[in-house]
Amino acid sequence: MNHVEVLTKHSVDNKILEVRDLKVAFKTSNGYLQAINSVSFSLEKGEILGVVGESGCGKSVTATSILGLFDRKKSRVEGKIQYKEHNLLRFSEKQYRKIRGNVISMVHQNPMTSLDPLYTIGSQMIETILLHQDVSKQEAQMLALDLLKKVGIPSAEQKINAYPHQLSGGMKQRAMIAIALACKPDILIADEPTTALDVTIQAQILDLLLDLQKEYGMSIIFITHDLGVVAEFCTKVMVMYLGQVVESADVKTIFTSPQHPYTKGLLKSIPTIEGERKEKLFTITGTVPPLSDIPKGCRFSNRCPHAKDRCNQEMPELVELSQSNHSVRCWFYEEINHER
Ligand SMILES: Nc1ncnc2c1ncn2[C@@H]1O[C@H](COP(=O)(O)OP(=O)(O)OP(=O)(O)O)[C@@H](O)[C@H]1O
Ligand SMILES: [Mg+2]
Repeated sequence: MNHVEVLTKHSVDNKILEVRDLKVAFKTSNGYLQAINSVSFSLEKGEILGVVGESGCGKSVTATSILGLFDRKKSRVEGKIQYKEHNLLRFSEKQYRKIRGNVISMVHQNPMTSLDPLYTIGSQMIETILLHQDVSKQEAQMLALDLLKKVGIPSAEQKINAYPHQLSGGMKQRAMIAIALACKPDILIADEPTTALDVTIQAQILDLLLDLQKEYGMSIIFITHDLGVVAEFCTKVMVMYLGQVVESADVKTIFTSPQHPYTKGLLKSIPTIEGERKEKLFTITGTVPPLSDIPKGCRFSNRCPHAKDRCNQEMPELVELSQSNHSVRCWFYEEINHER
């Protein structure tokens, strides 16, 4: 039997995805550049994992690897991406096509890169449904219409025939979510799904995602710059810096007991409205270095206020703390946290 055919959706096993030691490198004129270095995490059924970190830290590359969307001639992806009993990294393009948009789907950072301008919203949804589900064209049309209503698109009967450019930013985002959910995926990867939108629309879309997540029992990988959204929306958090995981824990632990200086820096950078503003907003000094100039030792060492000699020389491993599911990659986290 073709092993894609045995992919059964919605199994009873709780761990739905396990990424182990993921490494992604891109071919450049100067050889391969390593964008992701030994990233590991797992996702359980119904869990919402928040992935945070500054621009260029590897959030989208990690997500894109799960869907096998890189050109194989220009990239090298190693490690293991286990979806149920399958290591997706061994999948052929043909096998991948059976799971993309079906059991794992993605809402991309920019709607216009994933909505096809030449086809109506409805035909893009119907095509996805027909590709993966054994239904008639008429049934697919009904399903598409239902979903457009569910994601809160007004006059869905007319909008189903609209082309992407005829929709506003918020409506495009909703349409993308509707397309991603067309086959009730086990895993939804949402890459900054609300970044381009104004705050009220953002809140509406997040509420909508949460409702649909509960209804479908989906797991979500939620990529965002917005820690406020993470606090409200996610169950677990993974903090990335320059292609590595530097800290991960459940959402409450990250906000109440962060251990890594980078995580602390990100948390301190959130604006608050309490009290009078006396100081300038905190910023982490410097910027994320390019992949061609990764610091030796700890990758955050050249921006870290606590860095010592060892940090500049040796790379710390990700260590698990005594509390379950809390890991941190820092030589001196205990010392730094005693200093407080
Ligand atoms: N196709 C590619 N070829 C070469 N380098 C790439 C490619 N895609 C991403 N990169 C590099 O990999 C690194 C991580 O990029 P990635 O897009 O994952 O960042 P990100 O964390 O999603 O940032 P942002 O918050 O801006 O979306 C960056 O240095 C980026 O330039
Ligand atoms: Mg990105």
